[in-house]
Amino acid sequence: MDRLIIRGGVPLRGQVEVGGAKNAALPAMVASLLTGESIRLHRVPQLGDVKTTIGLLNHLGVSVERGDRESLSLRADGIGPCEAPYHLVKTMRASVLVLGPLVARFGRARVSLPGGCAIGSRPINLHLAALEKMGATVSLDAGYVEAKASRLRGARITFDGQTVTGTENVMMAATLADGVTVLENAACEPEVVDLAALLNGMGARIEGAGTPTISIEGVSHLHGAEHEVIPDRIETGTFMVAAAITGGDVTVTHCLPGHLEAITEKLRETGVLVEETDCSIRILGDGQLRGVNVRTHPYPGFATDMQAQFMALLSIAQGSSVITETVFENRFMHVNELLRMGADIKVIGTAAFVHGVPMLSGAPVMATDLRASASLVLAGLTAQGTTTVSRVYHLDRGYESIERKLQSLGADIERVAE
Ligand code: EPZ
Repeated sequence: MDRLIIRGGVPLRGQVEVGGAKNAALPAMVASLLTGESIRLHRVPQLGDVKTTIGLLNHLGVSVERGDRESLSLRADGIGPCEAPYHLVKTMRASVLVLGPLVARFGRARVSLPGGCAIGSRPINLHLAALEKMGATVSLDAGYVEAKASRLRGARITFDGQTVTGTENVMMAATLADGVTVLENAACEPEVVDLAALLNGMGARIEGAGTPTISIEGVSHLHGAEHEVIPDRIETGTFMVAAAITGGDVTVTHCLPGHLEAITEKLRETGVLVEETDCSIRILGDGQLRGVNVRTHPYPGFATDMQAQFMALLSIAQGSSVITETVFENRFMHVNELLRMGADIKVIGTAAFVHGVPMLSGAPVMATDLRASASLVLAGLTAQGTTTVSRVYHLDRGYESIERKLQSLGADIERVAE
């Protein structure tokens, strides 16, 4: 397992380009199951989760070819066993996204229950209840979900809670259902909007993506399409925090500032200067950071995927901050590691009480999940001394060559293969 070795204290300076969004690329790749024609995707980042999804789609009979560095061609012209096995699903919960497309196009699917992960139990009950309302017969057997339907039918579905992949799963299934499906309390994330754009490019009839009410008029079949994935708003936010936490001056390019307004506003509240154009964000972090309160919320609120990174920043801000995690039940795994670097944080229930300290100290720390590992890298960039982050495979799931991008900004960071 690789480690990252970081010698902190260098203010980051320069420009960095973000890649395509992991959480838009994954559903877009899975959408290839909905047609026998070729889907060509651009700006697909080279990430662990993308490789896992390619493996899962190959297992299902989808041919996948990498074109240039960031393009994929996918074609589900001959389908395999319609089964997503445990050994693949357990490493990536988003594998559950194949459920809806397989039932919609082939009438059956057998998908391993994803099981929990470091940040929570990650149930899929909302996905399954929606498919049942559309006429699927859903049963659980030996840790697998089996779903069957001769043809899904349109239905009015109100999600009990907002679920991003639940919305995406059902939206994909509904494109081939008989009749109109209306989703209420749907997730509004930009990745949902991006998937809807791809599906409509394939001939689907989807309206309202990005709002809590999405309507999908089923069609008999979908055709091939070409699509560029939106920029990764979480990678963008992570580099913004990297600039702020090191007191640097960094411009993040090829991004969409409109996708992370809540993050930007919160950064401004800490005293960081932020300058935006329509495709870039400049962060000037040379002032004194002030503590602020953060409460995660589904989009367009403060993204839960930025909570860990922001905690690293607030751990060296002047004064106190309260960070409340409302989306996942166990997304404070980074706290113990930050404490080992000298942070002053107390967790009570879903809230973390952070008291800023003048300086963190470098230490050997261990990544536990994707965004927690990003938080530890950010802490290492500002800490006095050397920080070694182990188990960076967690980081590689969602960040492409993060050490190379940080090196280009002047960071003293290197990857050591073990
Ligand atoms: C998506 O996960 C993202 N993953 C996550 O990003 C992100 O943190 C999350 O949305 C919230 O924004 C992808 O898009 C691949 P949810 P998802 O369903 O869809 C509960 C990252 O770091 N819930 O919106 O799995 C669930 O337990 C990853 O890139 C149910 O109870 O999240 C959670 O508490 C991590 N039943 C809440 O809803 C269900 O059937 C939100 O989960 C589904 C969800």
